[in-house]
Amino acid sequence: MTQRITSTEVIDRLDHLKNLPTFSGLLAEYDALMASAKGSHLKHVVALLRTDPRISTGLLKSANSARFNPGSKQVTDLADAISLMGNNDVRLLIVTWNFYTMFGSPTALDQEAYLTHSMVSAFIAKALGPHCRVDEDQAFSMGLFHDLGVYLLALYSPEGIQAVRETSQGKAGRQIAAEKDQFATTHAHVSARMVNRWQLPKPVVMGILGHHNPALVPREFQAPARLTALAQAGAFYLGYENGLVGEQPGILTETSQGLLKRLKLSESGFQEMAEAALQEAQDTGLL
Ligand SMILES: [Fe+2]
Repeated sequence: MTQRITSTEVIDRLDHLKNLPTFSGLLAEYDALMASAKGSHLKHVVALLRTDPRISTGLLKSANSARFNPGSKQVTDLADAISLMGNNDVRLLIVTWNFYTMFGSPTALDQEAYLTHSMVSAFIAKALGPHCRVDEDQAFSMGLFHDLGVYLLALYSPEGIQAVRETSQGKAGRQIAAEKDQFATTHAHVSARMVNRWQLPKPVVMGILGHHNPALVPREFQAPARLTALAQAGAFYLGYENGLVGEQPGILTETSQGLLKRLKLSESGFQEMAEAALQEAQDTGLL
């Protein structure tokens, strides 16, 4: 039976139940610090990052990953970790480790699969950034949060998401219709509403909103929407379903093939890019 809800109602209800994932304010504080003169002093950066133990622990873990510290001695000091990684990677890792600690409540989803799908999509999205003329940091967030609404719908209505699973038979191509049937909204709308509430940049919000139908968003945001659609498709292509639905690994839908054609990217080029992105996520200690 359809529960006629809107994306706003999903988020308001979860907010009311104190069940809404939060986006750490640390990123905004980090950006402000880096834009100021104090940002060039490591001690200020360390002091800020220490205020969030979940994130500083994650940063240390990444500093000891194959990518940043191959076979060298263990890094245990946050200042050393920051020096090793550099500003761009520290920023990306603040977003990432915050993401990993967001999902406290169990749901009917396979959450392990959900997190991995999101992480793989984020690295593919970052790699697609230059091809789509989308900022790489923003692209990463689009990949990471594109299916946040799946988790939020599962929190909102365990029965509803179970019905979506059954109706869609685990097939990504049937997910949107099944959600509309069940909820009268879609996970793309709910994801976009949530990241908008976190005040992430507009291209991120609109890219996520349009990731199942880029034509849904204004023309100026269709490139981010196409990028997000391809990032999601790349994760499915590599066999990473989102905890609810997936596609047959190694097969691209006609829609995804059309999106690649537009970017003048061959399927083999896309596959190579997706595999390299997966490797990067693994080497950074995130999978
Ligand atoms: Fe999606």
